[in-house]
Amino acid sequence: MATLTLDNQSYTILASGHFCQTIVWSEDLIAKVFYNEVDAQWEFDALIECNTINNLLPQAVELIQIEDAYLLIMERLDSIENFTDIPLEDREEMLEEFEEAVKELHLEGVAHGDIMRPYGVDDYWANIFITTEGIRLVDIGMVYYYDEDDPLQFKERRKKDMLDISEFANYFLFE
Ligand SMILES: Nc1ncnc2c1ncn2[C@@H]1O[C@H](COP(=O)(O)OP(=O)(O)O)[C@@H](O)[C@H]1O
Ligand SMILES: [Mg+2]
Repeated sequence: MATLTLDNQSYTILASGHFCQTIVWSEDLIAKVFYNEVDAQWEFDALIECNTINNLLPQAVELIQIEDAYLLIMERLDSIENFTDIPLEDREEMLEEFEEAVKELHLEGVAHGDIMRPYGVDDYWANIFITTEGIRLVDIGMVYYYDEDDPLQFKERRKKDMLDISEFANYFLFE
């Protein structure tokens, strides 16, 4: 398994993105590794904001620096193996709750902005976790906040979130 070494400690890499990696921090926690403090702080603040609204996003723990890396420590989410085993009725309920949670963020002026990832062939839903506790979301880096000077922009982002969810519904309910 690929590892990342920081301060002579070796960590298992869970995922490698374009700009950052996700590593196993402890049994229940992961760390998203940034090499840019501003981006790390941006995402940490957004997680904290989301955490005050509901539990759709992982619980933020802390932001620490090790060498030149900034580690955003957060709750680790786990996807279930095979969602097609879940009865369709239950899936519909999960989807409804997911949609409600996203709308709750919208009502508080937060649009996720990256529910369906724009690239990758079969990796569109890498930011969505289908867990035993319901559908959860990661990756708040593209967050957009309501801005009273530009309400249209927020409306667009909100609309995109809802469109992404209807795309996801096609996958989640009819796969
Ligand atoms: N809280 C988490 N629990 C478990 N896995 C996670 C968590 N956050 C991120 N990941 C994994 O790391 C990947 C990349 O993290 P993400 O925040 O989406 O970064 P990127 O900006 O590179 O897409 C995710 O697609 C997911 O597989
Ligand atoms: Mg992502």
